Amino acid sequence: MKDAEKKIESLRDEIRHHEYLYYVVDRPEISDFEYDKLMQQLQKLESEYPALITPDSPTQRVGGKPREGFVKVRHSSPMLSLDNTYNEEELRAWERRVHELTGRKEVDYVCELKLDGMSLSLGYDDGRLVRGVTRGDGTTGEDVTLNVRTVRSVPLSVPKEKLKKAGIPSYFEVRGELLMPTAAFKKLNEERERDGLPTFANPRNFTAGTVRQLDASITAQRRLDYFAYMLLENGHTYFDHHSKTLDALDAAGFKVNPHRKLVHSMEEVWKFIQEWEEKRDSLPYEIDGIVVKVDRTSLQDELGFTGKAPRWAIAYKYAARAGITKLEGVRWQVGRTGKLTPVAELAPVSIGGTTVRNATLHNVDEIERLGAKIGDYVQVERGGDVIPKVAKVIEDKDHPRGTQEIEVPEKCPVCGTKVVRTEGEVDYRCVNANCPAKLLGTILHFASRGVMNIDGMGESLVNQLIERGLVKNVADIYDLTKKDLLSLERFADKSAQNILDEIENSKKLPLERVIYGLGIRFVGERTAQFLAEHFGSMDDLAKASVEELQDVNEVGPRIAESIAEFFGNPANRELVKRLGKAGLIFAGEKKERGTKLAGKTFVLTGTLAHYSRDEAKRLIEDAGGKVTGSVSKKTDYVVAGADAGLKLDKAKELGVAVIDEKEMEKLAS
Ligand code: IVH
Repeated sequence: MKDAEKKIESLRDEIRHHEYLYYVVDRPEISDFEYDKLMQQLQKLESEYPALITPDSPTQRVGGKPREGFVKVRHSSPMLSLDNTYNEEELRAWERRVHELTGRKEVDYVCELKLDGMSLSLGYDDGRLVRGVTRGDGTTGEDVTLNVRTVRSVPLSVPKEKLKKAGIPSYFEVRGELLMPTAAFKKLNEERERDGLPTFANPRNFTAGTVRQLDASITAQRRLDYFAYMLLENGHTYFDHHSKTLDALDAAGFKVNPHRKLVHSMEEVWKFIQEWEEKRDSLPYEIDGIVVKVDRTSLQDELGFTGKAPRWAIAYKYAARAGITKLEGVRWQVGRTGKLTPVAELAPVSIGGTTVRNATLHNVDEIERLGAKIGDYVQVERGGDVIPKVAKVIEDKDHPRGTQEIEVPEKCPVCGTKVVRTEGEVDYRCVNANCPAKLLGTILHFASRGVMNIDGMGESLVNQLIERGLVKNVADIYDLTKKDLLSLERFADKSAQNILDEIENSKKLPLERVIYGLGIRFVGERTAQFLAEHFGSMDDLAKASVEELQDVNEVGPRIAESIAEFFGNPANRELVKRLGKAGLIFAGEKKERGTKLAGKTFVLTGTLAHYSRDEAKRLIEDAGGKVTGSVSKKTDYVVAGADAGLKLDKAKELGVAVIDEKEMEKLAS
């Protein structure tokens, strides 16, 4: 045991060190593979000695079971906001006030990037992370500790020696900004779009939605980042200069933004502001301005606060980068899911140093809201890495209005198939599975790990296959020969054979994977599973009517119509036939789910005595019932175990029947 304990501690130290190198300073010294190996060793030891698991172990970043809600926590001192300025004159006015109130003519300032995320407080007791709290209303926030633990750049503990060296007490609070890097934002939004889920408008909203996930394992999958900018002890600033605070946080292993500067005059502040307005696009995350802070803590104290903001700091906000230009035409772009997006074709205009020729109009509703016509002059805005958008139509006497209506095409501009707008939806779509525009996304989805698991079939290979005309749909994957693969860049006998083996292996995967792989809109992993179990074969699924489809667990009219539409298309039927011929598994085990609880919706809460959450869920689902995560008017029963929390209150409030596990068993059997 003693040996194991030692080994565990040394592994943890080693892993923490490599996490720091990778996530905080971005200078890794070992490969991901070696890191994974260390982690696996630690996981193995910890599973052998579960008593030795501590919350600050690197293995504990994965996120635990979903929770019921968040506990409110009062901040040690208010988390304030900042006053904004938008031009040099206002900035000078702020400086004058600083001079007046402090009676000094020379004041040092620290310039920092204004990171566009959300502020978050971290509480450390004896060097260990014990609390992560959102800003909330500034006075009270929500305890999101479990979620914060999953953020790799947040240290779960700081060694005593490190704190000592940095001059930081062992009980302290860090405040800083939680954000989602632009690349992760784009990728996650694309995935959501592919799965037919609503997308987020910007990284900040995505961050806020992510940190408040009740299921911390979801937070763990979304790569959030954290930059520290304040250090407090008992709610008070600890160091006598802000610049020292930042250096100390840095020395203790927190991620502190490197683009900061201690300056001695407003001229230098202004230079910093202008420099970053030029360079902001080169950052991997979004900023919306610069924060200027008085460096000396004693001067900060003298200056104090006005209402919700300190007088010792100010935010200089960059103007939304915008320009006015003529809307010359509209083109309809076909995305991975077949969604048609209207793209404005603009007379070239320079916005923040970049020439913009295209901007998104989002969808038909947005065109209507803007009242845009071809020939109009429009205001175009551009933020960070995000696609420029048409913000409004200019309606004044200097800008004549356009007259040509923007029309939705009847046929897909890429393949000519008639476009469809499902009732109740904003978007028009091309439903042809073979449409080349959808091809890349469809193939990548099909080959991905959770689907047909064809390892090695990534973007570069698929792009080549499409370009050479070797793959026009997912069925073509199964006709690929070694000769085909050898004709591509970077393929030798062995690598070609590997891919062919992977393709061959994929034929062993069960029916639900194949259904999921077809990329039918709204059919995710779970629905595919229910469909496979209900119909037991691809043929029966393909023949099912919209009404029959709705007999399947969790399939409502929207999903049923999407499935029927897919199989109603002759090209899709042909494709499925070829997959069957290639030898993919088209038969599954039909699992008769009972019908006793058909149409009934359950919510589980608290700890049950004889069932785990998963077991209870299975019991209900096997009887044809449905289990959801939150209580609403549509909930039929709430099954309450010990320590049931908010969901129980909600059930009572809405008058939903509350039952115990005995009654649940009775209903299900
Ligand atoms: S200092 C009292 N520094 O901006 C000091 N805030 O508009 C308040 N923010 O709520 C925070 N980057 O979420 C500070 N370098 C930075 C910042 C920053 C972004 C955010 C923060 C704050 C908001 C105020």
